[in-house]
Amino acid sequence: MILFHIASVAAILITITTLSAEHAPIPPKQNWSFASPTGTFDRAALQRGFQVYKQVCSACHGIKYISFRHLAALGLTEAEIKVLASQYQIKDGPNDAGDMFERPGRPSDYFPNPYANNKQARAANNGSLPPDLSLIIKAREHAANYVYALLTGFKENPNFKLSPGQYYNEYFPGHAISMAPPLSEGLVTYNDGTNATVDQMAHDVTTFLAWASEPEMEQRKRLGLKVILYLLVMTGLFYATMRRIWKGVRK
Ligand code: HEC
Repeated sequence: MILFHIASVAAILITITTLSAEHAPIPPKQNWSFASPTGTFDRAALQRGFQVYKQVCSACHGIKYISFRHLAALGLTEAEIKVLASQYQIKDGPNDAGDMFERPGRPSDYFPNPYANNKQARAANNGSLPPDLSLIIKAREHAANYVYALLTGFKENPNFKLSPGQYYNEYFPGHAISMAPPLSEGLVTYNDGTNATVDQMAHDVTTFLAWASEPEMEQRKRLGLKVILYLLVMTGLFYATMRRIWKGVRK
């Protein structure tokens, strides 16, 4: 019986070590404006990041939990949001004849998916599904550090076995990813004159995706600080009251 236990513990340990051997290296920590307990999103980085998402990533990835009007948080005006929304075609309906139809987007619409369905998405990507990016930062271990490392982690293949349509990525678990390196130097032209290096675009689009995964982060942190401050003040008050009530009472 004991031998059996030892054997099963050994088997579990071996599985754990082989599983972790498949894991990619831990992504280095980056300097994010939103990381600290009082951190906020850098508005300029958010706007640049949205531009990268719109011009590059949105060809394959949706952000289905974000609506056009959510972008007011990035500093876009109502008029800008209206114009932006109207550039998209949104599926609506059915109309009185029972047919679905397309119409220009409105601020209250959510970003449409680039593909009609998952099968079409897979067919266009060598059988792999580009995940929706709205919650990707929350869905991956090492969050923003991972997404940034993934976007900048395409390296020359060190003799790793890749199938056609796969690329070597240092930080993707298993290293063989079915996404071609999406960023290259100067791929977008930033309005604010920022130099669009791969590093800069990866940083900006990751900041945008971090916002998308938690648009209410700044309110949450502000509220948390207020609660802690309130609790501290109350602790002081209660302590002073206690001292007063027990003053003169012998122990
Ligand atoms: C031409 C299509 C295409 C474009 C453009 C593209 N991707 Fe991807 N992406 C994919 C596919 C396909 C996968 C799934 C890869 C896999 O599972 O092997 C993927 C996967 C991902 C993942 C998930 C990796 C994981 O851990 O599972 C992230 C994050 C990602 N892409 C971010 C981006 C960002 C950010 C951009 C824009 C800068 C972008 N992608 C542009 C096709 C694309």
